[in-house]
Amino acid sequence: MKNISIIGSGYVGLVTGTCLAEIGHRVICVDNDKEKIRKLQNDILPMYEPGLEKLIIKNKKAKRLSFSISIKKAVKDSEVIFIAVHTPPKENGEADLYYVESVARQVAQLIDKYKVIVSKSTMPVETGKRIKETISSYCSGDADFDVVSNPEFLKEGSAVEDFLHPERIVVGVESKRAEKLMRELYKPIKAPLIITNIETAEIIKHSCNAFLAAKISFINAVANLCEKAGADIEEVARAMGLDKRIGKSFLKAGIGYGGSCFPKDIEAFAHIAAQNGYNFELLKIIQKIDQSQKENFVKKIKKALWNLKGKKIGVLGLSFKPNTDDMRNAPSIDIIGTLIKEGATIKAYDPAAMKKAREIFKDKITYCSSSYATAKGSDALIILTEWGEFEKIDWGRVNRLLKVKIIIDGRNMFEPEKMSRLGFKYISIGRN
Ligand SMILES: NC(=O)c1ccc[n+]([C@@H]2O[C@H](COP(=O)([O-])OP(=O)(O)OC[C@H]3O[C@@H](n4cnc5c(N)ncnc54)[C@H](O)[C@@H]3O)[C@@H](O)[C@H]2O)c1
Repeated sequence: MKNISIIGSGYVGLVTGTCLAEIGHRVICVDNDKEKIRKLQNDILPMYEPGLEKLIIKNKKAKRLSFSISIKKAVKDSEVIFIAVHTPPKENGEADLYYVESVARQVAQLIDKYKVIVSKSTMPVETGKRIKETISSYCSGDADFDVVSNPEFLKEGSAVEDFLHPERIVVGVESKRAEKLMRELYKPIKAPLIITNIETAEIIKHSCNAFLAAKISFINAVANLCEKAGADIEEVARAMGLDKRIGKSFLKAGIGYGGSCFPKDIEAFAHIAAQNGYNFELLKIIQKIDQSQKENFVKKIKKALWNLKGKKIGVLGLSFKPNTDDMRNAPSIDIIGTLIKEGATIKAYDPAAMKKAREIFKDKITYCSSSYATAKGSDALIILTEWGEFEKIDWGRVNRLLKVKIIIDGRNMFEPEKMSRLGFKYISIGRN
């Protein structure tokens, strides 16, 4: 059992802290957002993540998990300190590491005995080195510490499962002492442990995200060709995915990836590559294709509805992907923004992201309580997130509720033939 503190209790920090408590450690999750900590202390989850609430309550009861706004007490009581704050993009694409540095400075002043400071946030290569320099500069005297890079690969929506049953755990270390501690910490989790140096661990994380985004942009580019050439992207992707060298995941054509990670991580990766003297052009093209997918989708809507001014458009799905309420960089933001600019009125529904959507769209759209309320009286229904709930929609009922029977599906959720049999003009991505 280790005493651990997690600084930054967002999507990653909270899941990390809870799961480390679940495998037997004593964890204090810290955040400087007082409201977030107050909620967590009162068993209220600040975000939606399947399975997390149950684990938080269980581990709080077992006295393995607690929440605090005091970094001081948490660090004093811990041997291992995870930094899990956000690393947002600056305007030039570079990762903004101000939050990381400020935590490193605070931690430095609190080191009184050996501590391991672990980067959990996604950080560009060479950040570990910077954290070490920062701690050395701000600590008192000859503080005893090690810096470790332990990037996180969890996916929002299946984060708990991903953390407890990962495909691998990557640990970048500089000393045998830190390696031993990290091996002990993760011992209860059965997964290949990749022990490497800090720079390699940092590059592994950025490479993984860039590669996954590349697969999505690749299939979206092929989808665009399929539309023009009369081919079917779903069949192309299926056949490609059966080739084990390619693999079937992340080959789903749609309106692009969005989310809080891929866009910023790809920009940050390109930026750090340039700083190191390498022009990583492929990354720029991945991003460009992703951006154009949203524009192409709006073109499809316009083609189907002619003028958008005065049209009522129902939107199903707002979060950047299903099973999360995360709206950061969700394609829905740009798409709805453009539709509003063109004069359309928007009614929308999402199974989990309504609260976060209200913070973004404010009173610019109408918030509906169900898919059916969204369809009622709309000139078209558009699908922006592939929530499982939408698979169970009673299309007969939707057909009766829609003013015009048009469905524009940005996630290829349904069979075109079936939808047209049900009486809809059904438009999707990369299929004719
Ligand atoms: N969200 C994901 O799916 C995911 C997956 C893997 C890696 N990551 C990476 O993990 C990192 C965190 O991402 P996230 O989605 O959890 O971000 P988030 O914004 O949800 O959480 C960050 C938290 O840190 C807190 N914070 C900021 N400064 C602080 C300080 N000085 N002291 C205490 N708390 C502070 C914020 O209040 C916030 O609650 C990022 O680098 C991200 O790229 C995210």
